[in-house]
Amino acid sequence: MLIRRPQPGDCAGIQPSEITDEQVYLDRRNLLRAALAMGVAGLGTAWPAGAVSGGAPLNAKRNPAFHVSDPPNSYDDITTYNNYYEFGTDKSSPAANSDRFKPTPWTVTVSGAAERTGKFALEDLLKPHALEERVYRMRCVEAWSLVIPWVGVPLGEVLKTFKPTANAKYVAFKTVLRPSEMPGQTVNVLQWPYVEGLRIDEAMNPLALLAVGLYGKTLPNQNGAPLRLVTPWKYGFKGIKSIVEIHFTEKQPPTSWNISAPDEYGFYANVNPHVDHPRWSQARERKIGSGLFASKVPTLMFNGYEQEVAGLYRGMDLAKNF
Ligand code: MTE
Repeated sequence: MLIRRPQPGDCAGIQPSEITDEQVYLDRRNLLRAALAMGVAGLGTAWPAGAVSGGAPLNAKRNPAFHVSDPPNSYDDITTYNNYYEFGTDKSSPAANSDRFKPTPWTVTVSGAAERTGKFALEDLLKPHALEERVYRMRCVEAWSLVIPWVGVPLGEVLKTFKPTANAKYVAFKTVLRPSEMPGQTVNVLQWPYVEGLRIDEAMNPLALLAVGLYGKTLPNQNGAPLRLVTPWKYGFKGIKSIVEIHFTEKQPPTSWNISAPDEYGFYANVNPHVDHPRWSQARERKIGSGLFASKVPTLMFNGYEQEVAGLYRGMDLAKNF
C-alpha cells in the first residue's frame, strides 16, 4: 500500500489452507439446501462446549435472508492476508504470528448502562442464541472486497440480554491485551488495546453480527478468535477482533483508527463511494480472487446494504460524519 503510516483495510488473502474447507463448505451447503427442500427443520446450533481453537466444526443454520449471490472467497483468501496489528502490520503477519494466541477459555466483561452486567464465559454468552451462517460482502477501506461466509449470532440479540438502559446510546468494544501472545502489542503502531464502537441503533440493526466462525468452523486466530464484530455496511476496520469487553455508554466511545488518524478514519466508517479517503478514491473496489488484471467494480453505497441501514443515517451529512 502506498502510505506513510500503517493503514487498516487491506482485506485479502494468501497462504495454504489447512483443510478442504471450501469443499466441506460446498457439500454442507448442498446438504442444507436438501434439508430445507425436504422441509427438515433447522440443523440445530451449537458452540462446542469448552471449545476450541480455530477450525472446530460449528453446527450453524444458514440464514437465507442474509446471503449474497457472489461466491464466497476461498478460505485462503480470507485467512492469510488481512489486518490484525496485534500480530504485526504485514498482511501475512496475522496468519504467521498468531499461533501462540490462546482463544480458550474466554470471558467477556459487560459493563456500563445496562441492568445485567458482569463477567461471562463465552459459552454462556452464546448459549441462548442460535448460531447462524450468513454470507456477507465485506469492503475494506483500501478498496478491496471479499465475500465471507460468517458464523455468528446477531449482535442485537446478545446485547438485549443485558437489558441496556435509556442511557446506553453507544456500545464500546475492546480487544484483549496480551503482549506475550500478541507480538504486535509490543510495538507502538496503534494505541493498545484496540477499541471500537457503534451507536446503539447500529448495534441493534439485524445486520450486525458477533462472529465466532467462518466457513462452518470456529474462527482462526488471525481472523479474530474467538469472538469478533462484523458490520458489513462499514469499512473492515470497524470489525474489532478478539473482544473481551462490551461497555454500554452515553458518550460516543473512542475508536482505534480515529485516535490514530482522525482526519482519515471517522467514527461511522460507512462504506460510501461518494466520500473519498483523503488519499484515495472509494468509488471502486477490487474483488479479491478475481485475478490481478480484473478491472475494479463500482462500490455500492453502504456496501450494497442501503435498504437495511440507510434509515439509521437519515438527516445526517455523511461527508461530515464519515
Ligand atoms: N481488530 C483488532 N483488534 N486489531 C486490528 O488490527 N484490524 C481491523 C479489523 N479489526 C484490526 C481489527 C482491520 S483494519 C480490518 S480490515 C479487519 O479487522 C480485517 O479483518 P478480516 O479480514 O479478518 O475480516
